[in-house]
Amino acid sequence: MSIVMDDYCKEIDESVKKTLERIKKEKESQVKQDVYPLSLLREKIREIASSLYGQNIVSAIDLSVPPPEIQSDFAIGAFSLSKQLKKSPSLISAELAQAINSAGLKDIQKAVATGPYINIFVERNKFYSDILQYANSMGDEYGRTFANKGKTVVIDYSSPNIAKPLGVGHLRSTIIGQALGNIYEWTGFSVVRDNHLGDWGTQFGELIYAYKKWSDGDIKEDHIRKLKDLYVRFHNELKENPDLKQEARKIFKELENGNEELFSLWKKFRDWSIEGFNRVYSRLGVKFDLYIGESYFAPHTPDIIRECLEKNLAKNEEGSQVVFVEENEGLPSFILRKEDGASLYITRDLSAVKFRVEKFAPSSILYVVGSEQALSFKQMFSLARKLGYLPENVKAEHIEFGMVLSNNKKMSTRHGTIVELEEVMGKAVERAAELLREGNKEITENEIKELSEIIGIGAVIYNDLRQSREKNISFDWEKSIKLEAGSCAYLQYAYVRIKSILSKLKNTDAVCEQYKFEHPKEFDLAKKVLLFPSIIKQAQENNALHILCIYLEELAQQFNSFYADVQVINTLDHSLLASRTALIKATALVIEKGLKLMEIKTPYKM
Ligand code: ARG
Repeated sequence: MSIVMDDYCKEIDESVKKTLERIKKEKESQVKQDVYPLSLLREKIREIASSLYGQNIVSAIDLSVPPPEIQSDFAIGAFSLSKQLKKSPSLISAELAQAINSAGLKDIQKAVATGPYINIFVERNKFYSDILQYANSMGDEYGRTFANKGKTVVIDYSSPNIAKPLGVGHLRSTIIGQALGNIYEWTGFSVVRDNHLGDWGTQFGELIYAYKKWSDGDIKEDHIRKLKDLYVRFHNELKENPDLKQEARKIFKELENGNEELFSLWKKFRDWSIEGFNRVYSRLGVKFDLYIGESYFAPHTPDIIRECLEKNLAKNEEGSQVVFVEENEGLPSFILRKEDGASLYITRDLSAVKFRVEKFAPSSILYVVGSEQALSFKQMFSLARKLGYLPENVKAEHIEFGMVLSNNKKMSTRHGTIVELEEVMGKAVERAAELLREGNKEITENEIKELSEIIGIGAVIYNDLRQSREKNISFDWEKSIKLEAGSCAYLQYAYVRIKSILSKLKNTDAVCEQYKFEHPKEFDLAKKVLLFPSIIKQAQENNALHILCIYLEELAQQFNSFYADVQVINTLDHSLLASRTALIKATALVIEKGLKLMEIKTPYKM
């Protein structure tokens, strides 16, 4: 092996080793239990139910928040218990309510059976007081749970093709994947963040040809754009001279056969590309453990193909090099090797899935990739299962998403819309700066620079995550940057507002034995704060970040409505002041943490 190739493999092995060491440490660290008041309450109720009906039914019991017209704090539905026990729901709710009442739990004032529901009324002052104490004392850790401790998830996201600028097409994968990684971590998973770069394929033969022929030996700056231009030039020249295709094929073949000079060139393109991608990633708060990419797997594809042939899962096409998998289980046939013997995307993915399972023993692998690849993933998963690369106990999920549209059209240079991610980000930041300038007379240029980055980038990320994943999304600049409900700025503004109230208070750390609540909106807000950990769990279980977004918007709205009715700064009663301070502090904490899980920063001023 040449030195360059050797270094390249070492680089990757090193990153895998580092990741494995981290995971090992995470798994050895003490398992902390989640001690949130709501979880503890649920556990106690489950104990009561299990002594009534037996241990195996308890998972059917959960506490939900009743609709506003119901007076209680929480409710338990008896439907799934009723199914399991083959008893009427209203009978169960009556029995369980009675058992809860006679158990005399200190947090519960009373349980009332109403039809199929058990309404739970908590000892409000004590219970909501506990919540605020917890939230504020946990600070930045508030919301973390541990149920998935010991499990590993591999997330394949961003995964752009090298030698091209990052486009809006990869924006969604990048943003969704990063945020998913965060909420998986936050529910106890060890997360392997893997950027499966598109860094192999016949196009690199074309690029090398063009580079050798038309660049003067080296490219000094703006590397990615220049590589893209070379690639475009190749395809233009190809129209005049179709023989170029053959030339490029030959080069790629030699590259696949390990030609050192070509490999060094290719490696240079790869390094330049990663450098460029990282510039965008760092502005979006995106980080990876691994940049393995397809090139690493290409050399293993002959073995994979051999195994498929041996196991009769694939066939040779007569008289050609093509290897294909027949139509099966409703999935159309597909090929594993091309006419010219070159390896293929799907075959490299098979090798990658095998590698991931062997190295990381994950409980699931998530592929954050656009919906247009749905069929390809179905085909790949199905074959990987048959080959035993993906055992029964490893879940593989295609986390699909729709396209990014502009005026209802797919973004493309042909439509005259911007397609490069850096441009999209630049435009958002510019618009944020304009709005800051308009709205603040006394703002300095330095502040505008810092704040417009936070607000503009926040808007790009939030605009994506707030909409349900499977839908196509669009950029409506005005809407996503302005202070309208549903925008990131709306949340950031609520945060800034709370911080400004807190800055006017003398003592924001005053704790008292038990907080005092007077106004119903205080309870409402505290209850919303309480739900944060379970919202993160829900978002993780459904791979749906918009659940978190909607929650944060409701929280901000409730804060605004609380603040319209309730005094904080001019509260004279000491313990009431301490309670309200703790309440808005916890609210700010949740907004900050919630945004941070999406890699959105909070401004100090707006
Ligand atoms: N590079 C591919 C593309 O841009 C996405 C790769 C996704 N990940 C994977 N394991 N196939 O379309």
